[in-house]
Amino acid sequence: MKKISIVGAGRVGETTAATLAQGNLCEEVALLDVRDGAAAGAALDILQSAPYFSFDTRISGDSDSEIINNSDLVIVTAGSPRKPGMSRSDVLDINRKVIDSIVDDVTKFAPDALLLLVSNPVDVLTWHAWKRTGWERNRVFGQAGVLDASRMACFIGMETGYSAKDIHTMVIGGHGDTMVPLFRHTSINGIPAAEFLDAEARQRITRRTCHGGAEVLELRKNSSAYNGPAAAIATMVDAISNNRRRILPCISVLDGEYRQSDVTAGVPVILGRNGIESVIEVDLDESEQAAFEHSIAKIREDLALL
Ligand code: LAC
Repeated sequence: MKKISIVGAGRVGETTAATLAQGNLCEEVALLDVRDGAAAGAALDILQSAPYFSFDTRISGDSDSEIINNSDLVIVTAGSPRKPGMSRSDVLDINRKVIDSIVDDVTKFAPDALLLLVSNPVDVLTWHAWKRTGWERNRVFGQAGVLDASRMACFIGMETGYSAKDIHTMVIGGHGDTMVPLFRHTSINGIPAAEFLDAEARQRITRRTCHGGAEVLELRKNSSAYNGPAAAIATMVDAISNNRRRILPCISVLDGEYRQSDVTAGVPVILGRNGIESVIEVDLDESEQAAFEHSIAKIREDLALL
């Protein structure tokens, strides 16, 4: 990919820009932030690390929307983060307005781009942004499941003592307390996770995964997670940029898959050059299906508030 724009030079946006540059995942990163100097300052700071990390990615920042001109991919991290004790839905009202003006910039300056939503509540805002663009659904999608699955893998690693590198996980549903970690679709190098984790351990890991973001926020008090989110975004960018066709859990508009329509949710998809190539429908047993439907019902509650 040639040009990737990141809207929002807060901690997630800035860490993402640095991660993309360090991974040589595109030729150019443009940072946009309404706060005067914030994006330019972040860009300059990252550029000053280039000799150490050996990258030559061009990085710039501005408060003028035109900087996203002709992007191949726009990543939206802007918006008000939640404070300790708040749910992601609590910031819906304020962030919807932020997304409206960003989407209008994107359709004006980067009409051929893919659009990746990260701002919360991400499932609902992905739906909202998709509607506002009027684009095909493959081009507008959200980041959540890659991060949630990474958290699940991290907690399985902590629980078992085995390398996180070998742990393959899957989390579907909304990016909130009702997300659904799928242990039947989780393995340690191909060996079903249940062979290493009894029901109690699985429950502990499920709880911790669902609150993985809140746990970081409660500890830090003044900042949500950003290293995990940036790594998750970079994973998706790598899949797109190199047309890897990876199977990753992403927030997609559903059109009949999992017997759901007119809603967005985290589901495994094939991610490549054109964004979401298709949704993968994995078999769910009765309790997984019930948990997934419960999570979708929560997303629909928030969609009704739009
Ligand atoms: C989290 C926020 C970014 O999960 O939603 O940490």
